[in-house]
Amino acid sequence: MTRAHAPGKAILFGEHAVVYGRPAIAVPVPPIQATADVTDLPQAPAGAVFLESEATGTRAWLNALPEDDPLRRITQSTLDRLPAGGRQALSIHITSTIPIASGLGSGAAVSVAIARAVSQHLGQPLTAEAVSTLAFDVERLHHGTPSGIDNTVISYETPVYFVRGQPIEPITVGMSFDVLIGDTGVAAPTAKAVASVRRRWEADRESMETLFDVIGDIVRRARPAVESGHVAALGSLMNENQTVLARMGVSSPELDRLIDAALGAGASGAKLSGGGIGGNMIAVVTPDRARAIITALLEAGATRAFATQVGP
Ligand code: MEV
Repeated sequence: MTRAHAPGKAILFGEHAVVYGRPAIAVPVPPIQATADVTDLPQAPAGAVFLESEATGTRAWLNALPEDDPLRRITQSTLDRLPAGGRQALSIHITSTIPIASGLGSGAAVSVAIARAVSQHLGQPLTAEAVSTLAFDVERLHHGTPSGIDNTVISYETPVYFVRGQPIEPITVGMSFDVLIGDTGVAAPTAKAVASVRRRWEADRESMETLFDVIGDIVRRARPAVESGHVAALGSLMNENQTVLARMGVSSPELDRLIDAALGAGASGAKLSGGGIGGNMIAVVTPDRARAIITALLEAGATRAFATQVGP
């Protein structure tokens, strides 16, 4: 059996504007993971693949799944990248602790875990770049215009300063800092949030481009704060970013409630993370406040709240 993992991700700054060419900063979230286990199936016909995922309720032979099924797509495209030959039948079992449709990269992480596990099992491990490219192709199925930030940060497993279509810029974080993640429990597919921003942009391009510019400026100012782990600076930039996201219509009462609870309990800053409308919020905190803020998030209705550390 070959097992491979891929972490979740959180966008610290710049979601949505990144789809329109502005920079964004994202980090891997190792406490939550997708896992793929690949085993040989000696009794099945050569070349066959059986896929199983509790999260999506999938239990089927690859060829029986619709062609645009994300699990089928990533498995097939990974196999297509590897040398053909009399390959044994395989079984792929996927599990994940990353909530679906919540802004934490579950779709990209499942793709990355599968591409890693299948290529390793067949003795041809793919590079991070190859895995990221395969996962990006699947991201297009989830929503039409992905920026590519999710597959990039999850495949390379490093904080990134990301600009669509440009070479990846890893960020070196000199001093680690704590980020708390709170789940509204409201499922919000990224496609829905991206489509809602697109509608607003089509209705009033000038205003939306101005908001994207403001976010781009926040992200550029945030980069040195991420590099140095400057929590107070990160916090105020997160609050600025959240104000703009709310104006773009991608916050929600549930997100606002959790953000207010985190700030009320002493977070240095807080914002939604990912597509928004539901899903998860993040807060940057000093270590002495972390426990109290997690309690405040749960009391304010978070279905889950946990900490992740960014940095060395
Ligand atoms: C999703 O994690 C982040 C968005 O900016 C979409 C994207 O970048 O593709 C909302």
